[in-house]
Amino acid sequence: MWGMSLPNRLAVAPMSRVTATPDGYPSQRMVRYYEGFARGGFALLITEGIYPDKSFSQGYFNQPGLADDDQAKAWRPITDNIHRHGSRVFAQLMHAGALSQGNPHRSHTVGPSAISPNGTQLTFYKGVGQYPTPVAMTSGQIDEAIGGFVQATVRAATLAGFDGVEIHGANGYLLDQFLTETSNQRADEWGGHVIKRVRLLTETISRVRAAVDQRFPVGVRISQGKVNDFHAKWPGGEDDAAVIFRALAKAGADFIHVTEYEAWRPAFDGADTSLVALAKRYAGDVPLIANGGLHDLQRAAHMVKQGVAMVAMGRGALANPDMPSLIASGRALRPFDASILGPIADIKESELTLRHG
Ligand SMILES: Cc1cc2nc3c(=O)[nH]c(=O)nc-3n(C[C@H](O)[C@H](O)[C@H](O)COP(=O)(O)O)c2cc1C
Repeated sequence: MWGMSLPNRLAVAPMSRVTATPDGYPSQRMVRYYEGFARGGFALLITEGIYPDKSFSQGYFNQPGLADDDQAKAWRPITDNIHRHGSRVFAQLMHAGALSQGNPHRSHTVGPSAISPNGTQLTFYKGVGQYPTPVAMTSGQIDEAIGGFVQATVRAATLAGFDGVEIHGANGYLLDQFLTETSNQRADEWGGHVIKRVRLLTETISRVRAAVDQRFPVGVRISQGKVNDFHAKWPGGEDDAAVIFRALAKAGADFIHVTEYEAWRPAFDGADTSLVALAKRYAGDVPLIANGGLHDLQRAAHMVKQGVAMVAMGRGALANPDMPSLIASGRALRPFDASILGPIADIKESELTLRHG
């Protein structure tokens, strides 16, 4: 798949760990953290959300960037180490939009419309209180945001040593804010019917796709739930899913990473099809990555049987950075201990000890 040899179907899900330097360089601790998953046998690692530009994209203090050439080169020790163990690594590119809660480059946030986000800032990423009300983006700022994804992708491919990128279209961040009716009330070509609300996603995918070699995978992550609205559902149900998955495939996505809290559950009330199964139904033959509660390995195996290309593990991988090795040797998985993410979700020395034995 993607012209790559992948020894298994296990991927590490993207997980923000706010452990970069204040100016967005990956730290030594991150080098050891990522290497642990590769040493443990994961075929593919997807990084935490990385900010692509020094304008409005950064979401958290101590988030890493790919926003200039020096930041990109600083990823080399991470990508080289991962490759040394025979694994692959995709950079997740994330524009936080209205959910930015720590951006030294700007003093206000932007989004599709000037609507206050639901929920409160994430304290484990150092946030406090309500999200500010964003300023509605101009068409120039939308173009600049797309350009940020394009340039960060070129840096990821040429300077940083990544094997692909995942455009973060899920979980309530900028591209999902455009997709979502309640946060996007624009009357221009970027708002209205779902076909227009998905347009920022498809424009970003196609412009990124066109900027790098065809063999360099460019995928997208998509969800209904959001960090600030856990139970959100696409209002048009399966009709929306059909429009969205068809549009992502048509835009040229090389994979679609579908995430739900529990990936096997029906996507909509009163129906029995999961969002992954709907992606399979409407995205043609685009490879799928499934995520959400799949450290239950029977569920994971069932996903593979349904035809997904890979299953991505979040919390399961944190508890078991050596999960593929454990499975191969028939040993039990460790339960996830949420305390490692508190009070701040930065990488703890205790996790690294687990990785290095
Ligand atoms: C600490 C932590 C950080 C996360 N950061 C990101 C992120 O940067 N980008 C993203 O798309 N998802 C992020 N997620 C969501 C995970 O990728 C995944 O969807 C979620 O943990 C559910 O999968 P699981 O049941 O395998 O844990 C994060 C999850 C955790 C636990």
